[in-house]
Amino acid sequence: MNEINMQQELIRLEEEGLTRHLRPLSMCKGKYFFSKQKILNLSSNDYLNLSGNRKVKNAAIKAIKKYKCGTGASPLVSGYFDIHCELENSIASLLGQEECIIWGSGFLANLGILKAIAKRDDYIYADKLVHASLIDGCLLSNANLFRYRHNDLNHLEELIKKSPVKGKKIIVTESVFSMDGDIAPIANLIQIAEKYNALFIVDEAHALGVFGKTGGGVCQDLKTNRKPDIIVGTLSKALGSYGGFAACSGMIKKYLVNKARSYIYSTGLPPACAATAQASLNIIQEYPKLGVRTLKKARLFHTILAKAGFRMPPFNSQIIPLHIGDNTKAVKLSKILLERYGLLIPAIRPPTVPVGTSRLRLTVTLGHNNNELLYMARAIEKSARELNIL
Ligand SMILES: Cc1ncc(COP(=O)(O)O)c(C=O)c1O
Repeated sequence: MNEINMQQELIRLEEEGLTRHLRPLSMCKGKYFFSKQKILNLSSNDYLNLSGNRKVKNAAIKAIKKYKCGTGASPLVSGYFDIHCELENSIASLLGQEECIIWGSGFLANLGILKAIAKRDDYIYADKLVHASLIDGCLLSNANLFRYRHNDLNHLEELIKKSPVKGKKIIVTESVFSMDGDIAPIANLIQIAEKYNALFIVDEAHALGVFGKTGGGVCQDLKTNRKPDIIVGTLSKALGSYGGFAACSGMIKKYLVNKARSYIYSTGLPPACAATAQASLNIIQEYPKLGVRTLKKARLFHTILAKAGFRMPPFNSQIIPLHIGDNTKAVKLSKILLERYGLLIPAIRPPTVPVGTSRLRLTVTLGHNNNELLYMARAIEKSARELNIL
């Protein structure tokens, strides 16, 4: 793409209300500021509010003092420390998997895993709404990719039956979907994976810490004998840190360590990130009800919005989509909320979500108190009425 093509593409994005902008935020004493205005953030994935937790911050500081800021090499060279190993063991044990591998990020994990595991003659079946990192991993692998309608098990089976018997089959889903907050029928998907001898990969990025009897994600509560073959996750959401992981069998770990390019050819995670995630995991173990409390707040917020007259999808999780449809209207609503009410909720538009489904993606965290939730709901209601959205 040359410069003229780039300019044309930017003009098209502007005309369609799809331009994205960076917004430099500042923080003071744990509060967000934008252009010197104090703001409330209703778009963070720091679901348990652990990123600013004193114990978690102290763990990062201690790790920087003991180790260094960076690891200086890829894990297989000299960028893998005891602190990474300890974190891997903690995650594997929480998720009930044999082993775990820590990655530079969740995005890198998904790219590396799918590229390493799926080959040209294989068949991947991915839910229509899975995250960009999973799709990019599937595309990078050059395997045959089929997208089944969102959470539609019949469509998934139809697609599997249509493909040749030869070739490995891989089913890919998220547990809690990032932009809709709804939940995949994991137990049924496991049955289908068993029936067709398919490998089953689940991304628990938005479920870890919030779902599961001790915060181990949706898969932790499964009553099935078989578990997913690979559970992918991130350290960057409920664990309040940065980095990604894959929890799996010892054999799959060995394979990925040897074959996943985004693991082999990328620098190991900074020690402070590993320490932060470990400290958050310790807190989650100590207080296993943090997820339940977050969901309770989210349910309250969902109820307030529904009472205000918004047509809400059923309550599922801490991720609450407020559907607007039109790109420009979604951007206008977001702008009014920021400028007039100090609320940060960027509009989510295509290609992040399907065309015609632009929305405000509201994420309730343990850091929001009830007064703030009420204030935010009222601000959204007033602004939506002004724009004739409500
Ligand atoms: C479902 C899902 N998987 C993976 C990722 C990527 O994780 P990370 O932010 O650690 O790169 C995200 C990030 O938003 C996500 O929503």
